[in-house]
Amino acid sequence: MRITPNNAGLGARVEGVDLARPVSPGEYRTILRALGQYGVLCFPGQDLDAAQLSAFGARFGELEVNVANLFHAPGHPEVMILSNKRDAEGRPVGLSDAGQGWHTDMSYSKDIALANVLHAKEVPLRDGRPLGDTQFRNMHAAYDDLPREVVARLEGRVAIHDFEKFWDMMRIRPGSIRGPLTPEQRAKKPPVPQPIFRTHPITGRRVLYCNPGYAMHIEGLERAESDALLEFLFRHQAQEKYLYSHAWTPGDVLMWDNIGTVHNAVADYRPDEPRYILRVQVMATLDYAALAA
Ligand code: SIN
Repeated sequence: MRITPNNAGLGARVEGVDLARPVSPGEYRTILRALGQYGVLCFPGQDLDAAQLSAFGARFGELEVNVANLFHAPGHPEVMILSNKRDAEGRPVGLSDAGQGWHTDMSYSKDIALANVLHAKEVPLRDGRPLGDTQFRNMHAAYDDLPREVVARLEGRVAIHDFEKFWDMMRIRPGSIRGPLTPEQRAKKPPVPQPIFRTHPITGRRVLYCNPGYAMHIEGLERAESDALLEFLFRHQAQEKYLYSHAWTPGDVLMWDNIGTVHNAVADYRPDEPRYILRVQVMATLDYAALAA
């Protein structure tokens, strides 16, 4: 297995491993360490079906079945289809607007996620250039750069994260097929507190764990102070120096760290420029420090 870091401070290419087959214990440890170190791993040239993607993801933790599970691979509720394609009757085959805004998957959940693993089958192209990048920002570096007085002010505090915030941001967009959350969906994912800073389970370093997609307010502060501090954190983490943008190629498997990064799916392609991606979400259910040692 060859790992080539890119020069953005985030992201690496991992070659020489076939993810359709079970990875060896040595490969597993290397991938886990690389996930902590580089945040975003691209395994190019893979060819996995839904079962193989699910099996690879499940090595790293339990797979989430999304609470609003609108589209999934047949027989695999844990494998979501992200796509703007439609079937012969004109019905959508996948969720077309997943992740289009800066966020961290599962920060709205009491139990957080370690990683997402996506596999691109079709990537929109215009004039030979891929569209629909997925962008990431480095939350290890963002934490390291925070003014110490902000760290002191917020250490030990929690922000309330709410699934409905991002859902409703998507729902009010023209053409959205998302309906309001049902009372059952709402009950499954109520607002939850999350520490604003947490220790990353692989690197052992502190990260900024707060994102504009789901964080609503900081518990225990007046609304105006909470809004101002969240605004500060979101502007801080949005700096260009933390950014890495992944341009997709069909066959890419992209695995990213959901604790040490925030991400955004770029919606720069049209309905007639097809994008089709399979996704699993890996919950942080294992002892990663021990597994990476
Ligand atoms: C996501 O947020 O998981 C979706 C990312 C993408 O489709 O690029």
